[in-house]
Amino acid sequence: MTTDSPKTYAIKNYGCQMNVYDGERMAEMFAAQGMTETNDRNAADLVVLNTCHIREKAAEKVYSEIGRLRRKDGADPIIAVAGCVAQAEGGEISRRAPEVNIVVGPQAYHKLPEMVAAVARGERSVDLDLPGLDKFAVLPKRRKTGAMAFLTVQEGCDKFCTYCVVPYTRGAEISRPFAELINEAKALVDAGAKEITLLGQNVNAWEADGQDLGTLIRALDRIDGLARIRYMTSHPNDMTDGLIAAHGDVEKLMPFLHLPVQSGSDRILKAMNRSHTRDSYLRIIERVRAVRPDIALSGDFIVGFPGESDADFEDTLSIVRDAGYAMAYSFKYSPRPGTPAATMDNQIANEVADDRLQRLQTLLVDQQTAFNATTLGRTTDILLEREGKLLGQLIGKSPWLQSVHVVAPGLNIGDIVTVDITETGPMSLKGEMLMKVAA
Ligand code: 5AD
Ligand code: SF4
Repeated sequence: MTTDSPKTYAIKNYGCQMNVYDGERMAEMFAAQGMTETNDRNAADLVVLNTCHIREKAAEKVYSEIGRLRRKDGADPIIAVAGCVAQAEGGEISRRAPEVNIVVGPQAYHKLPEMVAAVARGERSVDLDLPGLDKFAVLPKRRKTGAMAFLTVQEGCDKFCTYCVVPYTRGAEISRPFAELINEAKALVDAGAKEITLLGQNVNAWEADGQDLGTLIRALDRIDGLARIRYMTSHPNDMTDGLIAAHGDVEKLMPFLHLPVQSGSDRILKAMNRSHTRDSYLRIIERVRAVRPDIALSGDFIVGFPGESDADFEDTLSIVRDAGYAMAYSFKYSPRPGTPAATMDNQIANEVADDRLQRLQTLLVDQQTAFNATTLGRTTDILLEREGKLLGQLIGKSPWLQSVHVVAPGLNIGDIVTVDITETGPMSLKGEMLMKVAA
């Protein structure tokens, strides 16, 4: 069967910000081919599902979405499965879901236009190469962005935490070259970005010619028109002295650090192959706070890792109390095929893991509420990013990544405004506008 070349496309991203970035780059490629984006997946000629494999639920969602893409009139779209499920499951996807035409891994998506052309000729197309940096040389220049932009600086992971699929789906750690990143950052700022979040599976493992992420941040600091810099996700072992120092003296670097610890028990950290301890993690936090006392700390936690005892879990609760989080993500351990932890003895019963997750989340929400309350009465800048539910209301982000609601007639998304924080809750804050800083 041959089909016409697709004229419209829809991309659905699952999972992390890296996928959001990849999805934007795919959109730029399709736009350069003269295709038009539509939000309606039921009308698009081409649908790309940009998938996540980190936990079982994330992967299962993809199969139910594929089922929903079938159309009553039989005019099914070209379906491409991209991202980490594609990389991990490969040809198995087309066996389970024959309506899938394209399977493409996260390092090969720059080949999508030629793969789509192959499908239009009646072929099925699969590409799971992990060629490193090839795609960045081929992707079109950045021309479109919101006020808050993502910039992938590093990909892949060599850490091999025993529960995690990322080293298998995203490949080895690679860093994009310095000059290429500065150019892309400048193009984003020219296109309207006020804030750039540097992305990487281990973003602070970025290095090029002996320079670390701290050096890259200092170079980005010199770009006129760029107001804010953030980075995520980092690994405790890659918190270099230079990066910690940057938190103290680069004003554009926002006071927010996402530094996952996963567990507070040294025994579990060892079984996870995290290669840091509870104490070494806490010492890093201390050093960052010494140079930036108001830093908002964020983290990731896994409960119910194989062999996790009640005492191990209590250690996790206590590291949360010791470190003090402004926000955090917590997950129930999900065995992933092919990872060492999936075949470990002493898998934890679901009810036990559920109960622990609930207790941990209660503590984290309490901490988040308390952190938010510390900003009550403060005067701070927010970057407006979207419209709120009320008339004239806009929602922006504080330096500490909190959502702040403000009624601000005459302001636009992308403006930076100074506000007084007048109300705080567990999930968001309210502010009163004082003045506009930048448009
Ligand atoms: N089960 C549960 N959570 C996981 N994560 C990674 N792998 C798993 C897994 N198998 C979590 C970690 C990581 C975040 C991105 O997802 O906390 O930091
Ligand atoms: Fe996964 Fe660990 Fe690598 Fe993070 S550091 S991506 S959790 S293997």
